[in-house]
Amino acid sequence: MKLSIIGTGYVGLVTGACFAEVGHQVICVDNDAAKVKLLQAGGIPIYEPGLEAMVKKNVASGHLKFTASTAEGVQNSEVIFIAVPTPPQPDGSVDLSYIERVARDIAAAMTSYKIVVDKSTVPVKTGEKVAETIKRYCAAKVEFDVVSNPEFLREGFAVGDLMNPDRVVIGVASPRPAAAMREIYTPFKAPIIVTDINSAELIKHAANSFLALKISYINAIANVCEAAGANVQEVAQGIGLDERIGRRFLNAGIGFGGSCFPKDLSAFIKISEQVGYEFKLLKEVQRINADQMERFVNKITDTLWVLKDKKIGVLGLAFKQNTDDVRSSPAIDLCQRLLQDGATLRVHDPKAMAKARALLPTVTYVEDMNAVAEGCDALVVATEWEEFKQLDLARARKGMTAPIFFDGRNLFDPAEMEKLGWIYKSIGR
Ligand code: UGA
Repeated sequence: MKLSIIGTGYVGLVTGACFAEVGHQVICVDNDAAKVKLLQAGGIPIYEPGLEAMVKKNVASGHLKFTASTAEGVQNSEVIFIAVPTPPQPDGSVDLSYIERVARDIAAAMTSYKIVVDKSTVPVKTGEKVAETIKRYCAAKVEFDVVSNPEFLREGFAVGDLMNPDRVVIGVASPRPAAAMREIYTPFKAPIIVTDINSAELIKHAANSFLALKISYINAIANVCEAAGANVQEVAQGIGLDERIGRRFLNAGIGFGGSCFPKDLSAFIKISEQVGYEFKLLKEVQRINADQMERFVNKITDTLWVLKDKKIGVLGLAFKQNTDDVRSSPAIDLCQRLLQDGATLRVHDPKAMAKARALLPTVTYVEDMNAVAEGCDALVVATEWEEFKQLDLARARKGMTAPIFFDGRNLFDPAEMEKLGWIYKSIGR
């Protein structure tokens, strides 16, 4: 099918590439002309495993095109996906101005029937507003349908998640767009759930909030484990093998971050409030998450006592593994806390150092993870990169003034670390 995607961020670009990969004809639109130029030349503005090769292949085959013109995208496609940012406002509610702008631009360019699909994460009832907006600004007065099709991909695993989704959610108000959406998703061989538009929009916030709740739950269990002398990883395994609970998203750590969970939780609390329900459970999820960072910082200060003039090595800056994204990264928060207390930092991340520079201008960036510990008083793991498990512990220890290790992501085995002579502190073990 002929599709266009407005917005080439994580969701838009990966969606465009994967739709092209399964044989659709895709035009990706972005109002950032420099970004469009980069993409047209085969460059990728984000690090996402597998994406670059997929984009190159589909640009070469002619299935994937980039343009800065919304009109070009709209006029050459039957279905238009909106994948622009929905950033948070200071009170936690969602800024929908990009969505509104795009709805108006689409309306202005429409000259025949179109299906307009919202893929961005939006508050319930946004579809109604998008439909009203298009109707108001469409000079040609052509027919259209609005669809909600939330995206569930994870950064760092986005291509795999999109090619093999657990489910596809399609929110519609009539059968015509449902049939087109089914056709688009048939090659993906995933269960398709067709709902009304409000339910589809709500599914996205309900899913992300539940996953955040799961993480805060295991972090709270970790705190009980620490106090009681139990091991949170064994507890997670023991409860997670119950299929009703599931083992995934039960990794205790320094809390969740990124551009989705913190923002979506605040938004969902706000949305619930607006419809008359105080979602106290989700407020507690936020509180536990903030507290988790506090507890980790306390662990470091309790051990090192005075942070002023201490040199600390930090492994990890991205908000999670397999990405160069540092937006709302707990690792960056942690670094800023340690800097505030007077520590100097040597940091490393396999992919996120370039993007971290603007947020952490005063730290020393170290290219080789095995050189981070040199001259340090302590070493900290802040992001769950698999490759940190291969750290040369003997070399790290030799270069440090004291063998102190704070593992905020439980990557190492406490018994092993103690055997190797480390003063080792992790989460919930
Ligand atoms: C999340 C959801 O997982 C996706 O399904 C959703 O599509 C996406 O938000 C979105 O709304 O766009 P993402 O933010 O890319 O995806 O990353 P996650 O893998 O969910 O991780 C989020 C945070 O939780 C990270 O900081 C990670 O370190 C933390 N986390 C995750 C834990 O602390 N423990 C876990 O067990 C899992």
